[in-house]
Amino acid sequence: MAKTFGTTTVRLINNDLYEKDGERWWQEDRSFYTLRVSVNPVRLSFARKYLQLPQADDSGQWKALEVGCGGGLLTEEIAKMGFLTTGIDPAETSIRTARTHAKDSGLSIQYDKGGGEHLPYPDNEFDVVFCCDVLEHVKDVGKVVSEISRVLRPGGSFIFDTFNRTFISKLVSIKLWQEWKRWAFMEPDTHVWEMFITPGEMKKILERNNLDLRSISGAKPNIPIIALLRHLRKRAKGVWTFKKLGDSFHLVEAKDMSIMYLGFAVKGHP
Ligand SMILES: C[S@@+](CC[C@H](N)C(=O)[O-])C[C@H]1O[C@@H](n2cnc3c(N)ncnc32)[C@H](O)[C@@H]1O
Repeated sequence: MAKTFGTTTVRLINNDLYEKDGERWWQEDRSFYTLRVSVNPVRLSFARKYLQLPQADDSGQWKALEVGCGGGLLTEEIAKMGFLTTGIDPAETSIRTARTHAKDSGLSIQYDKGGGEHLPYPDNEFDVVFCCDVLEHVKDVGKVVSEISRVLRPGGSFIFDTFNRTFISKLVSIKLWQEWKRWAFMEPDTHVWEMFITPGEMKKILERNNLDLRSISGAKPNIPIIALLRHLRKRAKGVWTFKKLGDSFHLVEAKDMSIMYLGFAVKGHP
């Protein structure tokens, strides 16, 4: 969707799609399947490198929060790491799906409805906060990060990933993934390039909120770009399902941060 202000036209992000058709989060032949099988593994291996994970005897004592949890694809993995887990998201439909799926999977997860700008939790409540593929969806990144910092205990960890605002990210994540029908696999305006955040901007926002960025890494597909293009084309033509696409590649850590990046930060002591 585009909106015109005077002589300037801007595209608006379509966050309403998280209110539609909650089933899509966990269905194998939907685009979110790629989030689950192609993106989650790199997030989890990155997080495991830096987080102290609960041991069997203190399982359920350490608290984790996922901000912008959607249908719970990552939240369930966090719970499986042994954290007492909470997920929060403004989209009621997504939260409903997340609750049902956790129940059906025998996982005990607290799900709340709400935006990252006003987290309904006390100060210093969580040992870890995750915010993955969300910061580029919010109107006020500074406010969301300040809330994340407030609810994290001093010494607690913040794991995030988001998109960089570069020429390459415009070409790949906007044109290729959303706009050029020959390859596109995401709905238009799932992402809006102008809302992407450079690592430099992110570092400053973290610093302002007493969060010390300890590690940052890019991510790229584990197959050559030409092969990925072929796979996207087969999916767009209907020859391949989303499942086949998702199973054909996954992201791995890389030096190149021109499209997306993952970060680990620690909250300072007052
Ligand atoms: C691409 S999904 C990511 C979901 C989940 N983090 C994952 O990776 O599986 C983006 C999510 O951000 C949520 N979102 C949008 N605006 C938000 C806000 N202001 N605060 C928190 N979450 C928000 C959407 O409802 C949606 O569920």
